[in-house]
Amino acid sequence: MKVLVTGGAGFIGSNFIHYWLDNHSNDHLINFDKLTYAGNPENLEDVTSNPNYEFIKGDIAQSADIKEALEGVDIVVNFAAESHVDRSILDPAPFILTNVVGTQVLLDAAIQAKVKRFHHVSTDEVFGALELNSDKKFNEETNYNPRSPYAASKAASDHLVRAYFTTYQLPITITNCSNNFGPYQYPEKLISLAITNLLENKKVPVYGDGLYVRDWLYVEDHCAAIDSVITKGKIGETYCIGIDNDISNIQAIKKILEILEMKEDKIEYVKDRPGHDRRYAIDATKIKKELGWKPKFDFETALGKTVTWYKENKNWWQKLRNKNFENYYQKQYILRNET
Ligand SMILES: NC(=O)c1ccc[n+]([C@@H]2O[C@H](COP(=O)([O-])OP(=O)(O)OC[C@H]3O[C@@H](n4cnc5c(N)ncnc54)[C@H](O)[C@@H]3O)[C@@H](O)[C@H]2O)c1
Repeated sequence: MKVLVTGGAGFIGSNFIHYWLDNHSNDHLINFDKLTYAGNPENLEDVTSNPNYEFIKGDIAQSADIKEALEGVDIVVNFAAESHVDRSILDPAPFILTNVVGTQVLLDAAIQAKVKRFHHVSTDEVFGALELNSDKKFNEETNYNPRSPYAASKAASDHLVRAYFTTYQLPITITNCSNNFGPYQYPEKLISLAITNLLENKKVPVYGDGLYVRDWLYVEDHCAAIDSVITKGKIGETYCIGIDNDISNIQAIKKILEILEMKEDKIEYVKDRPGHDRRYAIDATKIKKELGWKPKFDFETALGKTVTWYKENKNWWQKLRNKNFENYYQKQYILRNET
C-alpha cells in the first residue's frame, strides 16, 4: 500500500508515521508537510534512511503540490492543520486557509487520484462545551457547536469530508479525538508547555481557575485508534476516540509537579482566554465495540513516560523555544495578563 500522511512533521503526524512504519512495514509512506512553525523534520530523523519513507514539502491548499504527491496513493491520512486554539484567537485566517480550504483542495485531489481511503483526523472540540458538573459525554451523534475559530475550522472540514462521501462517494472515515499528549508535541500546548517551563525552572501559566476538564489521551493510543479505523472501520463513518478519564488542567499540572518533585508555587494563574470551553468528554463505546480498540496507557503512566522523554530530549525542545516562540509567549501570557 502507498500511504500519504499530510502534516506528518507535526506532533501526532510524526508519532503516527513512527507507529505506521513499525506496524505496516511493507507499506510505502509519504509525509507531505508544509513545515510551518509546528512542523519539525527532526521528529522523523530516525526514519529518513528507511527506504519505505519519503518526505515531500508542500501545502495541502495548493492543488499542484498535492496532485503530484497523490499519484499512485491508496490511503490518505489527513493530519495537516493549524492546531492551536490560542493562536486561532489571535489570528483566525491561517486556520481557514489550511483547515477549510486546504481540506477541500485535498479532497478534490483525492477524488482525481481515486484513493481507496481518505481518513480525516479531527477533534472533539467541534462539539462545543459540556457543563463542569454533568456526566454528559460527546459521541458520534452529538450536534456540532464549535466555539473557537480553530474548532469552527475543524467542524467545517469534517462537514466537507462527509459531503464528499455523500456527493462524490469518496471513501472516507473520520475520527474525533480528545486532547493528546506525548513526545514531539510543540511546547505551546498545556502539558508540553508545563513540562518544558518547569524543566527550565519557570512558572506554569494556568488560565482562569484551572478547572477546565479534558480527556487526555496518550498519542500512541490515538495512532492505534486511527490504525484500527483505517484497517477495520466502515466507509462513511465517524468514530470518537477518548480514554474516559476527565482531568482538569490544574490536576494535570499538579501531577507533573509531583513527578518532577516540585512545589505548587510554580503555578501562576493568568487571565483566562476568551470563550474557553469548560469541559470535553468522549464516549468511545463505538470504536471499542465495533473495532476492538482500547487505550493501552493510563494517564499517570503515560504522563511519567512523557516527562521522561522531555527530560531526555532537551535538545529537541530547547531549539523550539526561540525568538518567535518567545514573542508568542509574551503576547499570550504576559502582555494579555497586564491589560
Ligand atoms: N493535538 C491534539 O490534542 C489533537 C487532538 C485531536 C485532534 N487533533 C488533530 O490532529 C491533527 C494534528 O494535530 P497536531 O497536534 O499534531 O498538530 P501540529 O500543529 O503539531 O502539526 C500540524 C502539522 O501540519 C503541518 N501543516 C500545517 N499547515 C499545512 C498545510 N497547509 N499543508 C501541509 N502541512 C501543513 C504543520 O507543518 C505540522 O507539521 C490536526 O488536524 C488536529 O486538528 C489534534
